[in-house]
Amino acid sequence: PVTSPVVIAIDGPSGSGKSSVSKAVAARLGLAYLDTGAMYRAATVWSMETADLADAAAVTAAVGVMPLVMGLDPEAPGVELDGRDVAEVIRTTEVTTNVSKVASNLDVRAELKRLQRAIIDQESGPAAVQSGGRGIVAEGRDITTVVAPDADVRVLLIASEEARLRRRSLEVHGAADASAVEATKDQVLRRDQDDAKVTQFLVAADGVVTVDSSDLDFEQTVDAVLAVVAQVTGRE
Ligand code: DC
Repeated sequence: PVTSPVVIAIDGPSGSGKSSVSKAVAARLGLAYLDTGAMYRAATVWSMETADLADAAAVTAAVGVMPLVMGLDPEAPGVELDGRDVAEVIRTTEVTTNVSKVASNLDVRAELKRLQRAIIDQESGPAAVQSGGRGIVAEGRDITTVVAPDADVRVLLIASEEARLRRRSLEVHGAADASAVEATKDQVLRRDQDDAKVTQFLVAADGVVTVDSSDLDFEQTVDAVLAVVAQVTGRE
C-alpha cells in the first residue's frame, strides 16, 4: 500500500452528489477535505459585502484580500471569513444566485486556484509527510483539469439530469415531488450552463475516470469512488 500522501481530485456538476461523496471518501481514508465550491461561495459573500458585484476589478481586489480560512476536516468542514463562521450563509439562495458571476471572473479564478493549490501542497507535500498527513480529497469543477491535473486519482462524478434535479430538490425543499423538482430546475440547469462557460466539467478529460451515480445510492457511489482509488493507489 502507498504510504506517501495522496491527492484525490473529484469534479462534477451540481447535484451529482460530489460534496457528500467526497467527504465520505476523505473520512473513510483519513484524508483532509477541500470544498472549492465553498471557496467560490465565500468569495461571493465577501464581494457582496465589500465591493460592487458588477465591478469586476473591485471584486478581484476584494478577493485578493479576503480573510478566508477553510476547515479541512471532512466530518466538520468549516468556512470562516474574517473569523466569522459563514458555513450557512454561503448556502443561501442569494449567494447561490450570484456565485456564477464571481466564478466567471478569470482573475478571481487565478487567485482561488493559487489558494487551493497552496492547501493541496500543504496537505500532500513535505510538511504533510513530516506531520503524518495522509493526503487530501479536493472537489469542485476544475480540480481534475486546472487546479490539480497531477493528482494521483482524478474522478468525474456525473449523474443524469433527472437524478441531479431529484437530489437538489430533496436537499433544498426536503421533497422531490413534481412541483419541488420544477422549482429547482431553473436554478440547477441555469447555473450549470453558466458554470460550463468557464469550467469544463461535463466531459472527462484525458486520464480522468468517470463515475456515473444516476442509478447508484449514496453508499454505492462512495464504494465506486473508493474502488477507483484502490485500483490506482492500492489504498483501501
Ligand atoms: O459546488 P458548488 O455548488 O458549491 O459550487 C459553487 C459555485 O462555484 C458553482 O456555481 C461553480 C463554482 N465553482 C467553480 O467555478 N470552480 C470550482 N472548482 C468549484 C466551484
